[in-house]
Amino acid sequence: MTVPGWLQRRLAAAGGAVPFSTYMDWVLHDPDHGAYGSGRLRIGPRGDFATAPSLGADFAALLASQLAEWLSELAATAPGPLALVEAGPGEGSLAADLAAALAAGWPDLAARCELVLVEPNPGMAARQRQRLAACPLPCRWSGFAELAAAPVRGVLLAHEVLDALPVERICWDGEDWRRQRVVLAGGSDGGEALLRLQPGERLEAGLRPALAGLGLDPPGPRLGPGWTTELHPGLAPWLQQAAAALGDGWLLVIDYALEASRYYAPARAQGTLMAYRHQQASGDPLQQPGSWDLTAHLCIDSLEREAGASGWRPLGHCRQGQALLALGLAERLHGLQQLPGAALAQALARREALLRLVDPHALGDFRWLAFARGTAPGVPRFLRDPSAPF
Ligand SMILES: C[S@@+](CC[C@H](N)C(=O)[O-])C[C@H]1O[C@@H](n2cnc3c(N)ncnc32)[C@H](O)[C@@H]1O
Repeated sequence: MTVPGWLQRRLAAAGGAVPFSTYMDWVLHDPDHGAYGSGRLRIGPRGDFATAPSLGADFAALLASQLAEWLSELAATAPGPLALVEAGPGEGSLAADLAAALAAGWPDLAARCELVLVEPNPGMAARQRQRLAACPLPCRWSGFAELAAAPVRGVLLAHEVLDALPVERICWDGEDWRRQRVVLAGGSDGGEALLRLQPGERLEAGLRPALAGLGLDPPGPRLGPGWTTELHPGLAPWLQQAAAALGDGWLLVIDYALEASRYYAPARAQGTLMAYRHQQASGDPLQQPGSWDLTAHLCIDSLEREAGASGWRPLGHCRQGQALLALGLAERLHGLQQLPGAALAQALARREALLRLVDPHALGDFRWLAFARGTAPGVPRFLRDPSAPF
């Protein structure tokens, strides 16, 4: 597989090899060549991969009732503006559909609310601006550092964004942990340049504390040589910056995630890293660098531990299927029967999308994890018994 010239030059300048996290950062976020940085990746059923918000507006309509509950609590405790902050808004579909749902269902709340988009990749931000051109809420793009100068009160959403933070891949060599690296091979004497994954230097001291509590320090005889997994060094800084940006309110993370006991089980010998493009999934992160999405699951225990250390109170988590049922998915499905016959095709498409959202073998297995800062946390509606009154 051809290694693009820009990557060959970058690797050569780095001495021929870089840690996997550096490679992942480059191929996703380089502003000229990265899959997100350049805006090359397209999200949606006709793009490179579908996400829940890209399947239609029903996902946002269900989520809006949870956001409205949280924003109402904040509105009741103090006057002043509120913010709905979305990190990693992709095509801008979720932000646009949430703004429309809030404006239609909770106009008084929406009148106090602004939309803030946190998107470091210029190529994606350009498409979000187009998608949100007619947004009913005031909109702005900002970074966490900028927000920290005047922290907002509200809700921060992170839907399928933390899985795009570069991960460190580590390999057990039978005696110690090694940091996996991406190596440039060949390319001299006119031969074809190739990329390889190799166990690199012994894991440095700075990454070793992350092994604690995951059953990896040391792993004992249960893991064979070559067993490979991921660590998430980007989580702690992201959570700290997010905490500084949101003075009071909630963080909702929705993503692929596993408990540490499942993530780091001996049988998961190659971790969770996957590549996506043109609706295809691949376990090879080295093909066509800068054209594929690379993504790794979150570890629930690591996320909750880092969040706790960064000023967030973990409120609990559940699977997406459970969360959406608690927010009224069954009633929404039932309501499709009331649509007029002329809207049959639309009703069938929406029914299929709603069922995909709760399919336990697909999007229904996503996790919803809630965290709070400042305000006294109540149990979020999506974690309460669905029969409890709103
Ligand atoms: C998998 S897409 C998810 C898009 C959208 N949330 C959805 O579910 O359809 C990841 C998004 O996060 C953005 N992103 C990547 N790293 C980020 C970071 N550190 N902070 C905020 N956004 C980031 C990407 O540019 C992209 O817009």
